[in-house]
Amino acid sequence: MPRISQKTKRISPASKKRKVKKIRLSPKRNTKKKETKNVKKINTPNLLRGFKDILPETSKYFVGILNTAQNISEAYNYSYIETPILEPAQLFIRSLGKATDVVDKEMYIFDNKEGGKICLRPEATASIARAYINHGLQTKPQPIKVWYLGPMFRHDRPQAGRYRQFHQFGCESIGERDPIVDAELISLAYNFFLDLGIKTVVHINSIGNLEERENYLAELVAYLKLHKNLLSTDSKKRLTKNPLRIFDSKDERDQQIMEEAPQIIDWLTDESRDYFTEVLEYLDQVGVNYILKPTLVRGLDYYTDTVFEFYLEEGEETSQSALAGGGRYDGLIEYLGGQEVPACGFAIGVERVMNILQARDEEKQKVYLSLPKKERPRVLKGVFLAQLGKQAKKQALYLIERLRKDGLKIYHNLAKSSIKTQLESADKLNVAYTLILGQKEVQEESIIIRDMESGVQEIIPQSKLKQKILKIKDEEKIINPGSKRKK
Ligand code: HAM
Repeated sequence: MPRISQKTKRISPASKKRKVKKIRLSPKRNTKKKETKNVKKINTPNLLRGFKDILPETSKYFVGILNTAQNISEAYNYSYIETPILEPAQLFIRSLGKATDVVDKEMYIFDNKEGGKICLRPEATASIARAYINHGLQTKPQPIKVWYLGPMFRHDRPQAGRYRQFHQFGCESIGERDPIVDAELISLAYNFFLDLGIKTVVHINSIGNLEERENYLAELVAYLKLHKNLLSTDSKKRLTKNPLRIFDSKDERDQQIMEEAPQIIDWLTDESRDYFTEVLEYLDQVGVNYILKPTLVRGLDYYTDTVFEFYLEEGEETSQSALAGGGRYDGLIEYLGGQEVPACGFAIGVERVMNILQARDEEKQKVYLSLPKKERPRVLKGVFLAQLGKQAKKQALYLIERLRKDGLKIYHNLAKSSIKTQLESADKLNVAYTLILGQKEVQEESIIIRDMESGVQEIIPQSKLKQKILKIKDEEKIINPGSKRKK
């Protein structure tokens, strides 16, 4: 090609040498191929047990959750916070409590090369409390309201909805003790689920302050000692280590005993009881669906007063595990060496939410496929750009970027050259329109627009493309009046 030869004339001696080298490369390439053949086959390393890849076909759920989390957090004035995945192990041992399952059995702990123990964070509340103290955030206007979404690690027994690496979307409000704070957090999480089309029910309880809990624990242990012989082996161990955990036992006999056990709510002072009542009043006001669970105690030591967990509302897909958990932790910051600062928060298990969204889509797909082909409704949305020829490919890349800057997203498959294959991709994506760009259109600075439903084509100048796509977007609503589209 003339342009390339012109450039060749101007190349320096050093680059000439490079060019000569390039010519000699071909015989060497063959040798390389042979070498590749001799590479010893190995067994591909497997994914670790309890870990999960989020592949392209499911990542849309993850990204959807991330976007929903960001939108709702920002609407409630929570700012994003990012803390490290590696933390001093002591941070969680002290915050969550030695006798909790997470610390006792599930932490990934390593020796730090500089001495001491470090761990992969099993949760983020303790990290955020640490960050609050480390950076003197108590000097800023209170409360400090933060949200996060990131990976957590627990060496738990893997099973459905339980992973060793999982993600949590969480919010923490630090610096204010007021029932409205607890209610705002619960309402935020509740509406996060609703935004994703998931109806939940909040299990809620109050476990009072430390003093109330100590009085209650003495009573509970006395009761459990009376029934010790009937308790499961695990619960016998919990009786000395962490008696509250017996409430979470899956053993039927343990559950029967716990039904009759004294309930913490009866050990609350008037102040704690009034606080809790006010939280519930706010929840009634905003229409959060909750049920009182006097046996709910949560598995981490830092909680005080309000504790809650989110479950799928009855009648929805059955799932035994909590989708989210949280509560007030008024003593944690001080316990970690900071000032006396009240706080409250929650964390939602992202994978558990992903599983619900995916199962729901699979169910819809099953129903769709069970219909005769003719009766399957088609929701057409979006625009696809197909190109034919080298010049058109270049122009397509330019147009995609130009439209992106105009805030318009279009589908494409630039790696494919055949127009047939590209139109097939467009059809699979169920787009309403396909833009077709060939050599002729590039020269004329025009573009073809094909209505995928009727097959009718129209040629317009490229300069009118933005206007046309915006108009198409409006027309799309008429084609699919029921389809909800995010702008
Ligand atoms: P958590 O109850 O331990 O609380 O975890 C919150 C949520 O994370 C659970 O409800 C569940 O959806 C998800 N989750 C926990 N473990 C796993 C796992 N192994 N696999 C998949 N998902 C899991 C906390 O972590 C507290 N930091 C919540 C909080 C924030 N409290 C106050 N602020």
